[in-house]
Amino acid sequence: MNSYKPISPKLPVLWHGGDYNPEQWPKAVWPEDMRLMDLAQVNVATIGVFSWVSLEPEEGCYQFEWLDEVMDLLYQSGRFAVLATPSAAPPAWMSQKYPEILRVGPDRVRRLHGNRVNFDWSSPVYREKVRKMATVLAERYGSHPALLMWHLSNEYGGASYSEASRQAFVRWLQNKFGGDLDKLNAAYWTSFWGHTFTEWDQIEIPGQPYGETAIHGLSVDWDRFVTDEIVDFFLNESEPFRRITPDVPIATNLMGFYGGLDPWKMVPHLDVIAWDSYPQFSLEPMNDRSWAKVAMTHDLNRSLKRGKPFLLMESTPSSSNWYPVMSLKPPGMHHLEGMQAVAHGSDSVMYFQWRQSRGCQEKFHGAVVGINQGEYSRVFRDVASVGADLALLGDVVGAVSPSQVAIIYDWEVAWAIEHACGPVQKDKGYFTTCLDHYLPLWESGISVDVLSSDCDLSGYKLVIAPMLYMVKPGVAERLTQYVQDGGTLVSTYLTGYVDENDLIFGNGFLGPLRELFGVETEEIDAKFDSETVDVVLGYNELGLDGIFQAHTFCERIHPTTADVIAQYGNVWYAFEPAITVNSVGEGKAIYVASRNDPDFTAALIRCLVSKLDIEPATPFQLPEGVSATKRVNDKGEFLFVLNSTQDTHWIALPATYTELLSGDVLSESLELGPFGVAVLTETA
Ligand code: GLA
Repeated sequence: MNSYKPISPKLPVLWHGGDYNPEQWPKAVWPEDMRLMDLAQVNVATIGVFSWVSLEPEEGCYQFEWLDEVMDLLYQSGRFAVLATPSAAPPAWMSQKYPEILRVGPDRVRRLHGNRVNFDWSSPVYREKVRKMATVLAERYGSHPALLMWHLSNEYGGASYSEASRQAFVRWLQNKFGGDLDKLNAAYWTSFWGHTFTEWDQIEIPGQPYGETAIHGLSVDWDRFVTDEIVDFFLNESEPFRRITPDVPIATNLMGFYGGLDPWKMVPHLDVIAWDSYPQFSLEPMNDRSWAKVAMTHDLNRSLKRGKPFLLMESTPSSSNWYPVMSLKPPGMHHLEGMQAVAHGSDSVMYFQWRQSRGCQEKFHGAVVGINQGEYSRVFRDVASVGADLALLGDVVGAVSPSQVAIIYDWEVAWAIEHACGPVQKDKGYFTTCLDHYLPLWESGISVDVLSSDCDLSGYKLVIAPMLYMVKPGVAERLTQYVQDGGTLVSTYLTGYVDENDLIFGNGFLGPLRELFGVETEEIDAKFDSETVDVVLGYNELGLDGIFQAHTFCERIHPTTADVIAQYGNVWYAFEPAITVNSVGEGKAIYVASRNDPDFTAALIRCLVSKLDIEPATPFQLPEGVSATKRVNDKGEFLFVLNSTQDTHWIALPATYTELLSGDVLSESLELGPFGVAVLTETA
């Protein structure tokens, strides 16, 4: 068993807390904050996130007294601090004195001061200021007893289109191509439309509205550069902490599947994965898919450190003011959301924000303590109920959820798909397709790791790599080895189209994966929204049966060594293969050449789960809308059963369990009310 130590030995329980901004309030309010935090069982506060001007109101003049007091107050009241660097919000004096620190938009216009995350990653002045601030914070608070962890900046993301950034990009390209411009031209196929560069300095940043995205290899490299530049900025910011406080963990708040930063590049430099979860349930009718999407994002965060528990760093206690519609969470939903994070591997539930601000951008954003509201508001009571339950689940800390299934979602693949002009102009649905494959697994209570195509795949029974459009060096070899060793791999249409520079493979679509799938892809037919194509299953070893509908994408493929298990119907390429299975070594490579309706995907996944003996979290059936996970450590096995519906469900139990939140011993059945949560351990 591979269980982990608590993130900090100072607080070896599940963390409960969130962003705390005492600098917005008179000191007289602070003792009341501590009293309310006691009531909500808040044991950790994230402080200083946007506090630069409060810490350094004038260049070189620091005022730390207020922060000293807050740190002491937290500690004296039995709490701990996640202390942030304030680099997400440069102070106005700095923007005024050094305008070059400010970000330049894609329109090449430098932004004026007034927002946050508004700085230029490549500005040497800003980097120097950030490093200095990190140094003074590390020196002053590194050994404070309240300090749990450093929280670097806030939601690193976005790009700057400044001249400094362009020059850094050109240096990045020179490094990638070993200073050889001919190599760059060849890699990007720039002879097309006469795009050939004859000097490095001719290279512009691609991106609307002025930089067109006609050279797709350059666009993908720009996306890679932006991530690398952010990582480089982070390394500059984290250096003083690594040097002065080597034992204090470092995290930053990531943003799930946000496209502007490849989190895998950040992971080696982080001690703890932390992320901000703001599901917009109000955007769509609430259904399984909405909950599965959040679950999949938690699983991504758990997978980033290959199973190590992560932190839910921010979530809203009620609603977010930036949602298109600020729907409130119905009773029970907040509790379920918090418990869902823990069920999927989080060792915390934390919020933005503790106390609602009276002014500015987020004055309507949800907060634990509303304006002129103490402990009697509905939101406060919801939060306190989560705090009370987290306190009952201390044994879960460090527990893991081993997975036998992995889904590959890769940022570089996503960027390449996004830049491609065709086969349709609308969103090509990469994330959605990954979620389609995740959904039936979530419904069956099966743990899934969400990996990049660069990850080691050994040990999984099933790997699903939908739309693996870009195949980077080493990926085909790793997938082949995985299948040869006995793994089952499923891929779909739009796989293996381009290499790492976004050039179509010289041997055509499927490129280096042709042998693995035993298939050659000749061409892809894109369908209008109103069109469907039948996919007819014949007798097959998987035991799949029926006629399903394909839409949007149908590839015409030719098997070389693969067996055909389904064919197209009602289209001019009727009777041509639509799904194939290739046996390679001890394993199988399954190719699904068309985008099929979800009922096909569910049938395929369910059949593979049963064929491969993939173990669900629970030994009992789950009703529709109820999901389950298992976390395991040396203290036991914890089964989380989560009802994401507003109906009550009764589940027959095959053994006797103790339900940890109620303390009840259940031997026959479990009753789960609307949004109900149960955490079961089997009674000996
Ligand atoms: C993000 C930020 C917070 C806050 C919330 C609001 O996650 O990190 O500072 O703005 O959004 O939802």
